[in-house]
Amino acid sequence: MRILIVLAHPWQGSFNRAIAGRAEEALQALGHRVSFRDLYAERFDPAMPAEELIGAPPDPVLASHFEGVREADGIVIVHPNWWGQPPAILKGWIDRVLRQGVAYEFPADCDAAGIPVGLLKARAAVIFNTSNTPLEREQAVFGDPLELLWRNCVFQFCGVDTVIRRMFSTIAGSTAQERAAWLAEVEAIVSAAFPKSA
Ligand SMILES: Cc1cc2nc3c(=O)[nH]c(=O)nc-3n(C[C@H](O)[C@H](O)[C@H](O)COP(=O)(O)O)c2cc1C
Repeated sequence: MRILIVLAHPWQGSFNRAIAGRAEEALQALGHRVSFRDLYAERFDPAMPAEELIGAPPDPVLASHFEGVREADGIVIVHPNWWGQPPAILKGWIDRVLRQGVAYEFPADCDAAGIPVGLLKARAAVIFNTSNTPLEREQAVFGDPLELLWRNCVFQFCGVDTVIRRMFSTIAGSTAQERAAWLAEVEAIVSAAFPKSA
């Protein structure tokens, strides 16, 4: 399988980087072809140019992101919870890469207010998040907005019905043993979502 990993964290020493790295290693060990896009490392530009919005063809970097999501049999997203949202660089990636004609389309017999059809062929998406809020408080006080964003607004909209999300918390104050156990969980989750091809 071809698996796309998208990481949005500015620091190479972060736990998010460790999550993405463990996912990459596990998926490669299963024989998958992994494409790893580290958005900060490649300085992905999250700001959509006006000409792109009105239909200009993508530049080569954006075209390579289009190809990555189109070809992916599975997608893994890794990012911290920043104000209940992904870091802005990843929001820009959603805006610019998961665009009409790439990730979804409106059928010929409906207008742009109709129900779109998803175009992504990925059989599953896995989202790993980190935060410093205990899960019960995240759900009770903030409503866990990342759950709605990734499951409903993004992946189901784009035709990916199997969405697996794991929020690791709290990172602040976590022990080396806890982080090791979380990384083992990362490996188990991606291995179950994307088993070795027959
Ligand atoms: C700009 C910013 C906004 C943040 N917003 C939240 C938040 O809304 N909820 C939360 O639990 N943690 C928040 N945090 C804490 C991060 O989620 C936390 O530092 C991160 O998940 C730790 O993982 P890391 O070691 O890979 O950076 C925020 C951190 C930053 C820098």
